[in-house]
Amino acid sequence: MWTLMLHLWDRWRFESPPAERAWDLARGVETRKWTLRGYEPVPLDTAAQILAAVPRDGRTLIDVGCGKGRMLILAAEAGFSRVIGVEIDRWLCEVTRKNLAATGIDGVVVQQDARDWSWPTGPLTVFFYNPFDDPILGVVVSRLTDREPTGPVDVIYVNPLALHAFIDRGWTIASEGGSGTERWVWLTR
Ligand SMILES: C[S@@+](CC[C@H](N)C(=O)[O-])C[C@H]1O[C@@H](n2cnc3c(N)ncnc32)[C@H](O)[C@@H]1O
Repeated sequence: MWTLMLHLWDRWRFESPPAERAWDLARGVETRKWTLRGYEPVPLDTAAQILAAVPRDGRTLIDVGCGKGRMLILAAEAGFSRVIGVEIDRWLCEVTRKNLAATGIDGVVVQQDARDWSWPTGPLTVFFYNPFDDPILGVVVSRLTDREPTGPVDVIYVNPLALHAFIDRGWTIASEGGSGTERWVWLTR
């Protein structure tokens, strides 16, 4: 019993760096990893770097696989006009909705497999933080690429292990940053 409790405590500490706990506490939200559902939140410093680099005004940020909504909150705070999260897991969608309500952010959370998601119109910034690999990514990127052109679309892809899913469909790298598993690329068409 004690061994199990120590193990859980250790895991909680490892997965909850103090800065991330403080960030959550300051907003009355819960975005840390403590879940067995394949959810991992974008690190705050990676998100800050990305948000400082991309255009925000008049844009909608869509987080594909939004988890608990950390990026939606950061994007709204950074000046995006609208934020939308697409997330397959019902429980994570509920956590995100609670988190948005706690921060007073008027965002939309859609519980759906991203492969079935119909992209909205207007200028978009689409964020991918490791939600899935090929072949799912290929389907999602094809639908985004074939979307009726109603404004610029930028993609931010962190840890771009399946970058070819974009390059093969005519996307090009506009900029990049970070390193290792936090390397990110900004893609345009
Ligand atoms: C690594 S987490 C990223 C969370 C969030 N984007 C962030 O940066 O904090 C990936 C998320 O993608 C979700 N996901 C996995 N497959 C999906 C799919 N087919 N459609 C929508 N969401 C999916 C998972 O449930 C998980 O919450």
